[in-house]
Amino acid sequence: MNTYVVETRQLTKRYGDHAAVKNLSLSVERGEVFGFLGHNGAGKTTTIHMLTTLLKPTSGTALVCGKSVTDQSLEARRHIGYVPENVRLYDTMTARANLLFFARLSGVENPDRRIDETLDFLECRDLAPRLVGSFSKGLRQRIGLAQAILHRPDVLFLDEPTSGLDPMGIKTLRDLIVRLNREFGTTIFMNTHLISEISRTCTSIGVLNQGELVFRDTIEKVTERYGSESSLEELYLSVTPVQAKGAA
Ligand SMILES: Nc1ncnc2c1ncn2[C@@H]1O[C@H](COP(=O)(O)OP(=O)(O)OP(=O)(O)O)[C@@H](O)[C@H]1O
Ligand SMILES: [Mg+2]
Repeated sequence: MNTYVVETRQLTKRYGDHAAVKNLSLSVERGEVFGFLGHNGAGKTTTIHMLTTLLKPTSGTALVCGKSVTDQSLEARRHIGYVPENVRLYDTMTARANLLFFARLSGVENPDRRIDETLDFLECRDLAPRLVGSFSKGLRQRIGLAQAILHRPDVLFLDEPTSGLDPMGIKTLRDLIVRLNREFGTTIFMNTHLISEISRTCTSIGVLNQGELVFRDTIEKVTERYGSESSLEELYLSVTPVQAKGAA
C-alpha cells in the first residue's frame, strides 16, 4: 500500500469570501504521529472535517489511505477513525450499548468480542455496564476513543484530544495514543494547542497560520535544530506572526 496515509494537494475550503483552509498540500506517512498546530481559527478542525469526509472541499484534492475524501462510501470510511473535540454519545445508554450501536453502524463482525478487546486495550472494561451520562470528560473521551478504533482504522484523527483533561487524563491519553501507534500501527493525525504534547507524543508536526501551512518537519529535525520545548514554542510563535502579535 502507498506509504502516504494522507495526501492533500491545494486543498481549500471557503466560507463565502473567507478561506478557512488555503491551498493545503500536506503528506503524512503511514505510522506517523502527526501533530497539527495552529492558533484558534487557523483551520485545523476544518482540515480534519475534510479529511474525514464530513465536509466537502471547495477545491483541491485529498486522499486518505488512497481514497478520495469525496468518496463517502463505507468502504472508503473503513480506514478512518475520528474522535471529535466534543465526543457525542447517548447519555441514557450504557457504554457497551453506545459501542454496540456504533459497531453495527460500521459493520464490525463479532461486535461484543471486539468491544471487550477494545475496552481491555484502553484499560477500561469496567465502564461497559455504566451509563454514559454519569461519566467525567476523561471517561467520555475514553469511550469516544473506543468507538473510533472499534473497526481498527488505519488512521485515527483526533481533534484537541487533551482539551479539558486534567494532567493525569492527559498522560493516560498520551500513553494510549503511543500504544495504539506502536501496537496496532495506527497512523495518528492530531490537532492540538499543547506544544508539550507535541514534543512528547509526535513524530512530526505541521503548523497552520490563517489557513496556510507555514511549517512542516519531523520532530527529530526540529529538536536537532531548535533544541528544547521552549524553543519549539519560539518556533511556533515565529511562524504564526498573527498570534505572536496578538499575544504581545
Ligand atoms: N460553518 C462555518 N461557517 C463559516 N465559517 C466557518 C465555519 N466553520 C469554520 N469557520 C471559520 O473557518 C475558520 C477556521 O475554523 P476552524 O474551526 O477550522 O479553526 P481551528 O484551527 O480548528 O480553531 P480552534 O483552535 O479554535 O479549534 C475560522 O475563521 C472559522 O470562523
Ligand atoms: Mg478546532
